[in-house]
Amino acid sequence: MQTNAIKAAVTALKNNEIIGLPTETVYGLAGNAYSEIAVEKIFTLKNRPHFNPLIVHIKSATALTLVAKNIPLVAVQLADTFWPGPLTLVLEKQDHIPDLVTGGKNTVGVRVPNHPVALELLEQLDFPLAAPSANPFGSISPTTAKHVVDYFTDSLTIVLDGGSCDKGIESTIVGFENGQAILYRQGSTKVEDIEKITGPLQIRVHANNESVVAPGMLSKHYAPSTTTILTSDITSIIQKYSDKRIGVLQLSPTNLPSFVIAIETLSQTGNLEEAAKNLYAAMHRLDHQNLDFIIAQKMPAVGMGLAINDKLERAATT
Ligand code: TXA
Ligand code: MG
Repeated sequence: MQTNAIKAAVTALKNNEIIGLPTETVYGLAGNAYSEIAVEKIFTLKNRPHFNPLIVHIKSATALTLVAKNIPLVAVQLADTFWPGPLTLVLEKQDHIPDLVTGGKNTVGVRVPNHPVALELLEQLDFPLAAPSANPFGSISPTTAKHVVDYFTDSLTIVLDGGSCDKGIESTIVGFENGQAILYRQGSTKVEDIEKITGPLQIRVHANNESVVAPGMLSKHYAPSTTTILTSDITSIIQKYSDKRIGVLQLSPTNLPSFVIAIETLSQTGNLEEAAKNLYAAMHRLDHQNLDFIIAQKMPAVGMGLAINDKLERAATT
């Protein structure tokens, strides 16, 4: 598969260049995690504050000890259960992981991506890949190669095309404090599934700025530039805006009045996994329509609905 493209990516990465990388969650901006030169380039491209650490991508659970140490048993169980897959574990870092990757923390976020292109690439490298989502800091994450190209036309020479991301929202992030598993970020691995192994997860309340453990926790993130309103009751909210250019982001089909200019329906059957997969692409499309407002519907608070609501709350202006 794509042998030439992967070969070119291997060469670029060995030369400390940054590439666009497909994963099952969202596309990443990937570089050699052991190279400060490469990692600095990622921060610059993303315009990301240096205190925000990057996730390190490894090829298999057996490579975990190369980047992390003193790994709690429950973390090993989570890795065995969910990798490759959309679960990031925050663990004590090995000394050779640059401080730049971890935002100066002594912990590192690590996961094995579940995407054939990412895995094939990692297999051919003798270093792991640091990769944040491939969007400028604070904006909507990319779920297609085109989203990445649109964001970084002038600055990326290689964006590997792995199709539309299967999961569509970022990995779930779990850390460990005093032997207790803690949820740092909602994401594509369901909390209910993680809790089957960890027992009830402590959840870090949404924090701001200096107390932020993960930027995914910043209250304004994943945001379209269009003013976005999150509501459980689309029908009554849209009446207030009948003289505006509005777009609606909804879970499943409903009858909407004709003054609604743009309608994005995330799943014909109301399936929350499908909705997650379609979420960011729908937000990208709505954001390109010169709307006055995006009215987004709150999802049912179960399964992937919780993670979608978390992203929508951070996208919403009010
Ligand atoms: O699905 C994903 O996780 C995607 C794909 C590309 O793998 N990546 C991603 O990266 O979402 P990014 O940089 O957009 O978000 C990484 C999150 C940040 O919120 C960061 O703070 C957190 O991971 N993180 C990384 N290392 C951490 C650490 N040592 N302690 C706490 N949080 C950490
Ligand atoms: Mg991100």
